[in-house]
Amino acid sequence: MSHILEVRGLQVAFTGERGETVGTDHVDFHVDSGETVCLVGESGCGKSVTSLAVMGLLGRGGYAAEGEILFKGRDLLKMKRKELDAIRGKELAMIFQDPLSSLNPVLTIGLQLMEGIKSHMDLDKESRRQRAAALLKKAGIRDAEAVMKKYPHQLSGGMRQRVMIAMALSCEPALLIADEPTTALDVTIQAQIMSLLKELKKDLNMALLLITHDMGLVAQMADRVMVMYAGQIIEEGTVFEIFDHPSHPYTKALLAAVPSLKQDPDRVLPAIEGTVPEEYGRITGCRFADRCPYRQKLCGQAQVLNNILTADDKTSHRVRCRRAEEVEQDGRV
Ligand SMILES: Nc1ncnc2c1ncn2[C@@H]1O[C@H](COP(=O)(O)OP(=O)(O)OP(=O)(O)O)[C@@H](O)[C@H]1O
Ligand code: SF4
Ligand SMILES: [Mg+2]
Repeated sequence: MSHILEVRGLQVAFTGERGETVGTDHVDFHVDSGETVCLVGESGCGKSVTSLAVMGLLGRGGYAAEGEILFKGRDLLKMKRKELDAIRGKELAMIFQDPLSSLNPVLTIGLQLMEGIKSHMDLDKESRRQRAAALLKKAGIRDAEAVMKKYPHQLSGGMRQRVMIAMALSCEPALLIADEPTTALDVTIQAQIMSLLKELKKDLNMALLLITHDMGLVAQMADRVMVMYAGQIIEEGTVFEIFDHPSHPYTKALLAAVPSLKQDPDRVLPAIEGTVPEEYGRITGCRFADRCPYRQKLCGQAQVLNNILTADDKTSHRVRCRRAEEVEQDGRV
């Protein structure tokens, strides 16, 4: 299987009033063609920053200070604007949590879709219109012709997300990045959008990088999982490795917080005490240490920062924790 996307040693920094801050720290991962990779972690851990860096959309003082972002083997960070624009929105597309902010409020849905098609495909106006309607239908919108005439504010949140999906698919991307695409939607609509993404992925053999904090969704969607904490990937593996053998205390805690049908419905879900530390770039030891029940003196030592994911060539399961084996075998959550 070939890597569609390969991110190597990505360090995102922000220049602000308080100087330089770290968004992500030496993040390495890949996405293969046709697979679904989920990126999980709680608020502020660097999920959006990672995906925005891939899209070249960091803005607001953010930049990739180090690393490579290889798309089909070519480094996006070294590309000229024109080359990047030819890839973005065509082979590489992204959808966001809030579709309203990505849609132009004063243009009809039809015009916006047709504009997107125009920038990447050489079609006459009528063919663009037909393609726009076909895309909306593909995204599960039955009355495509009527929706094309509407403005974004005239549609429900679920419909707007379907429109965004139609736009993202307009040029049949090899990779779709979806950053919390259903967080703003109610549960039934969430399920519909997710099954739509699954279906489309299969139809188009598209890879999907799905960002979420919902482990339930991960279980349904992922082939592989990457868990992020404080700007670093702290565990990665296949969905089975992560769910059956979580080996980082943070992953274990995330999984323990997922409600299960087998559990006593009155059971109080364990929450992870504390929050992602601020200014985590300055922490020299393990970044999870102040919340970790397995913490030892050694975890605070500087070498933990350099602890690369404990790569065993025979498995895809990697963990950034010096006590990973004990954590994995410990029945405690
Ligand atoms: N423009 C910015 N300037 C400075 N710091 C930023 C900026 N954007 C993001 N950050 C910081 O980068 C870190 C990662 O943020 P990011 O938005 O990627 O988190 P996230 O994992 O997507 O969280 P959420 O689940 O809330 O969306 C945070 O500490 C955030 O404060
Ligand atoms: S390295 Fe230490 S502090 Fe960090 S997660 Fe592992 S046991 Fe906990
Ligand atoms: Mg985010």
